[in-house]
Amino acid sequence: MKGVILAGGTGTRLHPLTRLINKHLLPVGKQPMVSYAIERLRQAGITDILIVIGKQSAGLYTDYLGGGEALGVSLTYKIQENAGGIAEALELAKNYIAPGERFVVLLGDNLFLDDLGPYVREFMKQPSGSARVLLKPVDDPRRYGVPVFDEKNNALIAYIEEKPEQPKSEYCVTGIYMYDDEVFDIIGGITPSSRGELEITDVNNVYASQGRLEYNVLQKWWGDAGTFESLEEAHQQMKGELP
Ligand code: DAU
Repeated sequence: MKGVILAGGTGTRLHPLTRLINKHLLPVGKQPMVSYAIERLRQAGITDILIVIGKQSAGLYTDYLGGGEALGVSLTYKIQENAGGIAEALELAKNYIAPGERFVVLLGDNLFLDDLGPYVREFMKQPSGSARVLLKPVDDPRRYGVPVFDEKNNALIAYIEEKPEQPKSEYCVTGIYMYDDEVFDIIGGITPSSRGELEITDVNNVYASQGRLEYNVLQKWWGDAGTFESLEEAHQQMKGELP
């Protein structure tokens, strides 16, 4: 199984810091943010990893991470030229994933303490062509993708609403996704949202509408470090995690 870390985007909510350096290289605890995603994949036995980065700070990624040997992984890089959305960044993994192969996608600004291993093992038992997302109860679901559960089969998500004004559950769909190569056909069939991005929620809603989207709920701390407040919280939570 392979891993894909999405670390493109513009990080505007962290200006002016992200005018200088890409968001996923900002310090969290003792390491740049991206190191934690790599470590979570490695911990789950996933050592072939593609990192999608923007043009900003591209050289700094290779300066710091190189080919990944020091971290016990093998890294490949792709550049997302414009921040056209999470699903657009994911589409760049198309040639990296073999036909029929399964993989885990992490948004590079998502930081968490759970071991992914048990969730990946559950995903491996799912039929091919299905997908899995990981959820977390949050204080303010309006900031995130929010799942609505299937009334007949509560192992499934019926649909996801992206940043709803009136959330229908207390859960956030975190930036931890599991797919096989069929996801690239689905991405090919979606169109940009009103904000001009290819949305990962639209991709996940194709799976959900066909009864093919399963989930787990994370047990430990999770956060996305996209704002100064959440970056500060991540700093506190992750400072003991990596040397
Ligand atoms: O953190 C979880 C949330 O992430 C989910 O609940 C939402 O459903 C999902 O849409 C996403 O929402 P955000 O508004 O937080 O996404 P953001 O634009 O901040 O992008 C998150 C990460 O995705 C970012 O750290 C890097 C990657 N990304 C994003 C964009 C827009 C890319 O690689 N390329 C992109 O073009």
